[in-house]
Amino acid sequence: MKKGARISLLVLLAAGLWLALKPTAGNRRLTFLPVHWSEYVDFMDFWFNLGAFALLAATAWLAFGTWKKVLGRACLITGFITLLNVMLELLQSSIPGRAMDLADVWAGLLGCVLGIVGSMAVQLMTEGRKSSDGIPQVLFLDQTGRLGGAELMLLDIASARAADSEVVLFQDGEFRSALENAGVKTRVLRLDDEASSVNKQAGLLHVLRSIPGIVQLILQTAQASRSFDVVYANTAKALIIGGPAARLAGRPLIFHLHDIIADGHFSPINQCALIFCANCFADRVIANSEATKDAFVARGGRAELCVVIPNGFHIPEERTNKDDLKKLRFSCLNIPSDAFIVLMAGRLAHWKGQHVLLEALKPMPSAHAVLLGDALFTDEDREYAHRLHAQADESELTGRVHFAGFQSDTLAYFDLADVVVHASVFPEPFGRVIVEGMLAGKPVIASRAGGAAEIVSHEHTGLLVDPGNVNELAEALMRLQHDSAFAARLALNAQQTARDVYALPAVQRQIENLIRKAGKYKTDPIPGTDTAPSATQAA
Ligand code: UDP
Ligand code: GLC
Repeated sequence: MKKGARISLLVLLAAGLWLALKPTAGNRRLTFLPVHWSEYVDFMDFWFNLGAFALLAATAWLAFGTWKKVLGRACLITGFITLLNVMLELLQSSIPGRAMDLADVWAGLLGCVLGIVGSMAVQLMTEGRKSSDGIPQVLFLDQTGRLGGAELMLLDIASARAADSEVVLFQDGEFRSALENAGVKTRVLRLDDEASSVNKQAGLLHVLRSIPGIVQLILQTAQASRSFDVVYANTAKALIIGGPAARLAGRPLIFHLHDIIADGHFSPINQCALIFCANCFADRVIANSEATKDAFVARGGRAELCVVIPNGFHIPEERTNKDDLKKLRFSCLNIPSDAFIVLMAGRLAHWKGQHVLLEALKPMPSAHAVLLGDALFTDEDREYAHRLHAQADESELTGRVHFAGFQSDTLAYFDLADVVVHASVFPEPFGRVIVEGMLAGKPVIASRAGGAAEIVSHEHTGLLVDPGNVNELAEALMRLQHDSAFAARLALNAQQTARDVYALPAVQRQIENLIRKAGKYKTDPIPGTDTAPSATQAA
């Protein structure tokens, strides 16, 4: 603690002591405005107490406060000061002719809280921006350490501007390693257990219990945001934290919405919180598909904030060579040479519909399913994965379902497939795996809903089937297995469309332009519009 701060603290302590012990007159009560002149002294006393303890608390915060354990430290300081406050009042009552006054204690407590909050605000406001040679500095926020589709998209965005970005995660994991490997600076600000266990379905009580942890994280994030020009929230929890944090820090906020906000995915209270935060705090909302945007607007989200930008993809120069494909097929997965390989890539979760594919494969004895991915996020997902293993052991499927687990390099799996299936039973917000299948030059079958129905043009770049409809999926699979010319035609169209619509550089440029606009920087001279053409337009 600096010498000056120590001296101020002592002076304030002495002032507080004097204020608390000084003589008073009249019958006092807690009042903010005096009604009669006789109450003037009480009024003065109230404000003196408030002011003295506010100053004391502000100094104590500057001396002992920390942004790491912000809530704990603020409570500790308030506790000590209130104890001092009460002791002084008790001391006063031991002096003949004086009495303890609760109104003074309240005034002191109020002052103390105001003092702490005020000094935090001053700290936040006085910290300057990073100097930035015309390139906006962006603080990205994401709640998870796992590698889901939203994180893979962020990985591409952040690594393209690694020198001017930092990613704050609320959980450690392989996502952090992937970012660091790409040269992106990261830091982990953890949510406490109560707050991190709030999931998309959480009810009101659970949400209320998580508030202290959330407040703490908001303050830490606000502090971090001060060194950046733009805050970019990539997930729902990142918006709940990043929205108020960006506002506190006086920074613009972009929210990348990767989810369809609707029943089944989010509890009503979470839907309200998300829409409220997006409407209040976001300068721009990037929706990953028209379906995601429509759901956002239908739930009350402001349409004028929203711009649709699909995910972008690296287009690999080279695909997997024959030897590696053989190794994968025979040594790793043990799939016979005459098998028809159906790939389903993506995390194992009930709404992703892996069980629908397994049912559809029962009447196709030469078809083998490769399930690429793992249960990533919730206990329900892990239970679902167990059920899938049990389903795969059923006699009609024995030996024909291959669980490949999560792989960070998925290219060879797509190259090995004869067909790529997407079978979500709930509208898919976007569906990266569909585009990856198209880029690999494979015929794709996808569920006719959400973003998937925007990516695939039925009978032109793939086949669409009703979500959860086992028979329709089986028919589509058999059609592709038996009509190889049709399958090849779909695959070719799909690959061309995917290359035209979902190339990463164009998507990166659109996002960069939004960042620049939000941060009030000059936008990219290369024409990049606010919206990307949809796959159907391009087809
Ligand atoms: N993925 C992966 N390894 C795996 C399985 C999947 O890297 O083992 C990737 C997949 O290639 C895709 C992403 O995870 O890029 C999943 O994104 P998608 O949008 O399909 O679904 P999400 O899981 O985000 O809802
Ligand atoms: C989310 C969605 C998925 C989308 C991905 C990237 O994880 O569930 O559909 O493709 O984000 O935007």
